[in-house]
Amino acid sequence: MKICVTSASGVEAVTKREIYKLLGVDAPALNGRLCFEGGWEEIAKCNIYLRTANRVGVILGEFRAETFDELFDGLKEIAFEDFISKDGKIIVTAKNVLSKIFATSATQSISKKAICQRLFEKYKITTLPESGERYKVEVAILKDHVTVTLDTSGEGLHRRGYRGLVGEAPLKETLASAIIQLSVWNPSRPLADVFCGSGTIPIEAALIALNIASGKNRTFDFVSWKVFDKTVYERIKQEAIDGENLDKEIRISGFDIDESQLKLARRHAREAGVEKYIHFQRADMRDFSSRFSHGVIISNPPYGERLSDRREIEVLYRDYGKTVRSLNNWCAYTLTSVTDFERLFGKKADKKRKLYNGKLECNLFAHLAEPPKKTK
Ligand SMILES: C[S@@+](CC[C@H](N)C(=O)[O-])C[C@H]1O[C@@H](n2cnc3c(N)ncnc32)[C@H](O)[C@@H]1O
Repeated sequence: MKICVTSASGVEAVTKREIYKLLGVDAPALNGRLCFEGGWEEIAKCNIYLRTANRVGVILGEFRAETFDELFDGLKEIAFEDFISKDGKIIVTAKNVLSKIFATSATQSISKKAICQRLFEKYKITTLPESGERYKVEVAILKDHVTVTLDTSGEGLHRRGYRGLVGEAPLKETLASAIIQLSVWNPSRPLADVFCGSGTIPIEAALIALNIASGKNRTFDFVSWKVFDKTVYERIKQEAIDGENLDKEIRISGFDIDESQLKLARRHAREAGVEKYIHFQRADMRDFSSRFSHGVIISNPPYGERLSDRREIEVLYRDYGKTVRSLNNWCAYTLTSVTDFERLFGKKADKKRKLYNGKLECNLFAHLAEPPKKTK
C-alpha cells in the first residue's frame, strides 16, 4: 500500500524523523504529505506511535480529471471493495485547488455516487445500508490531478484521549510534541512550562520521557475494518506497552497563574497516566526560579490578540525575558505570534522557526545556553 502521513506546516521534518526512527524509512515529502510503501503493520505503528502526525492515510488511486465525467469514471476504476465492507459507512470529503473542477460540494457528491456505484456492482446489491464501521475517503484535486485517500486514523492523531474539549487556547498535542522534539531537551534535563495552561507541553514531554506511545489510549478507524486483522493491532499495542519506561526519574514541571487551568492540567495528566511525574503549581512566571542548572523552558505564553491586551503583553514578555536570564544556563523555547517578541524579551533568538498554531502564524524562538558538561 502507498501510505501517506500528514502533519502541520512546519512540522513535516520532525514527522519525517519520527517515521525514520520508527520504520527505518526515508519518506519523501510530496504536496505536504510524507509517503512510503508499507502494509497494515506500518499503518498500525504510525497511528500508535507518531507524536507529530495529523493522520495516516492510504492512497487508493490517482488520476487526471478535468470534468465531472472523468472524475466519476476515474473513481469507478478504484477497488474500494478491497477496503470498504458491504455495510460500511462512507464519508467523503473533497478539496479542490487550482483545478478545472472547482466546486467542492459537487466533487463530494459525485465522488460518493461513484464509490457507491462501484460497491453496488462488486457486492451485487442495490443499496448500501451504511450501518457499519466508518470509512473516510478524501478526494483531493490539485491542478486537475485527483488523489483518493482513505483515512486510517479516524479522529485526528492529536486526540490522544487525555484531553476533553475544554481549555483556554490549548496547544494541539501534535504541535506541543513537535516543539519539544525541535528543542535541545532530553529527559535527563529539567523541563518547565511557565505558562502551562491545560498542561499540553509537560504532558507530551512526560509521554516522550517515559516512552508512552501517543496513541495508546485511543482507537483508530482501521481497527474496526473487516479487512484488517485485529491481532496485528493488539500485538503492536502490547509491544508499545512493554516498551514503556515508567521507572525513569524525570523533572518536568508546569506553572500557571490561573488555578482553573491547573485543575485541567492535572486532570489531563491523570488521564494520560503521567500525573505523578509532573509537578504542577500555581505561580506567576515572574517568580519562577530553579536550583537546577541547564534546564529547558518550553512555553506558549498568551499572545494578546486583542489590541487592548498589547500593553499587558509587552510587560509580560519583558518580565519573561528577565526571568529566563536570571536562570543558570537555561534555554528557552517560546511559541508566539507576537512578531517583536525578541525586542520585548530583550535578546535576539539564536534560532527562529515558523510554525502554525491552528491558522495563526507563529514563531518558535529559541534562546540557547551552554549545554551541560557530559559526565563520563
Ligand atoms: C496560551 S495559554 C497556554 C496554553 C497551553 N500551552 C495549553 O496547551 O493549554 C497561556 C497561559 O499563560 C497563563 N499566564 C498568563 N500570565 C501568566 C503569568 N504571569 N504567569 C504564569 N502564567 C500566566 C494563562 O493563564 C494561560 O493559561
